Amino acid sequence: MNKQLLVPPYRIKMVEPIRLIDREERIKRLEEAGYNPFKLKSEDVFIDLLTDSGTGAMSHYQWGALMQGDEAYAGSRSFFRLEKTVKEITGYNYVMPAHQGRGAEQVVIPELVKHPGMVFISNIHFDTTRAHVEIAGARAVDTVIKECYDLDTYHPFKGNFDLELLENKIKEFKPDNVAAITMTLTNNSAGGQPVSLENMRAVRKIANHYGITVMIDGARYAENAYFIKQREKGYQDVPIRQIAREQFDQADIFLMSAKKDGLVNIGGLIVIKSDEELFQRCQIRIVPMEGFPTYGGLAGRDMEALAVGLEEALEEDYLEYRINEVKYLGDKLREAGIPVQYPIGGHAVFVDCGAMCPHIPFDKFPAQAVVNQLYIESGVRAVEIGSLLLGRDPDTKKNLKADKEFMRLTIPRRTYTLQHLDYVASAIKQVYSIRDKICGLSFAYEPPILRHFNAKFIPDRQGEHDCNE
Ligand code: F0G
Repeated sequence: MNKQLLVPPYRIKMVEPIRLIDREERIKRLEEAGYNPFKLKSEDVFIDLLTDSGTGAMSHYQWGALMQGDEAYAGSRSFFRLEKTVKEITGYNYVMPAHQGRGAEQVVIPELVKHPGMVFISNIHFDTTRAHVEIAGARAVDTVIKECYDLDTYHPFKGNFDLELLENKIKEFKPDNVAAITMTLTNNSAGGQPVSLENMRAVRKIANHYGITVMIDGARYAENAYFIKQREKGYQDVPIRQIAREQFDQADIFLMSAKKDGLVNIGGLIVIKSDEELFQRCQIRIVPMEGFPTYGGLAGRDMEALAVGLEEALEEDYLEYRINEVKYLGDKLREAGIPVQYPIGGHAVFVDCGAMCPHIPFDKFPAQAVVNQLYIESGVRAVEIGSLLLGRDPDTKKNLKADKEFMRLTIPRRTYTLQHLDYVASAIKQVYSIRDKICGLSFAYEPPILRHFNAKFIPDRQGEHDCNE
């Protein structure tokens, strides 16, 4: 039989019951949550596609490894096991755990900012990375290729840097002011879109020319490697591990939220290739923030599970099924004519709610409105990645308009079956069929920063239809 896997390469030997509460109850729960699904209780959610971060299932090898956790404050055996695995995978010399990705960011990013007025240049910064850049007094600049936002057009590597724009930005800000170039693998904010090795090599070359540090934000680096194997010329027969290593060869620093391709529920990594002096500075900074450098906010058992998870996430049949299950959902939506980011990315399907609900202005948050309707129709929880998330201009206080109003359907790893995804696809088709009736949202409460997490809304009236009814 053809090995194009749409059959999970694992069996399930532990289950967690989930429950679909009835429609009336869902309407009530959403109202109580201020029309913000972040404020729902997870037990009121049937299928939770809010994030793929820390929501995956561990293998029995990982659960077994937990028992071997060495809980020493300093120098634990579990740390050395993790360190060995990370060094083998990356080829880098220095490893420190962190409690999650943003923990790694808060330690390393300020150490790269040497004077006021510095910038970080990325394909696209993830939100927390951007936040840490700004907290450190620097600015975050994105230089992704323009094809990235052309949703219907196929491009194998929509996460790529626009090399000309990158070089122009380096010249504009002056090389001495560029703290680092950050390659986000895969590019989360644009739909889990991969970056090619050819592009990474070109970025490395530009960085070398100007003497700039290169950092990988590699929460989903294994998924990126799988896309390279599938799509980049010359890599079809190269083992995933080798592709991963070639990715790491293009950078100096690797920060990881291990809650994604580490296949654990909590954890992060700081990995530095050869800059011992930087490593020493990070060792000092990590103590008051994350903890002693050999545990960095993790228990010994967490480090054991992570050491195993990092290996499992590089297994090819796992990756094949993983990427295919996300594509399975995306293809179903595309076949139904629902506008999605194409090709489908590594961890999520991104639905273009601006195109779906053109009657809702951007500052009435079309994607948030669709997310809410999806919950009412089906108990499925998705997340808005659009103008609500983007926030306001710090100077003018005006709402910023996102390039796209996305609803992200994020698929946790090894957690749901294709039947669950069939249900999600039917639910979205149902929402799509009533898209003209979906109303925008006005703030009942708008927090001053990171508003999407805690905001509360009131649905607007629209013509004869009232979403409050
Ligand atoms: N970098 C990327 C590319 C991410 O996607 C995330 C988190 C982080 C860094 C921060 O890691 O959550 O462990 O502190 N992304 C999650 C998401 C939250 O839902 O996309 P963290």
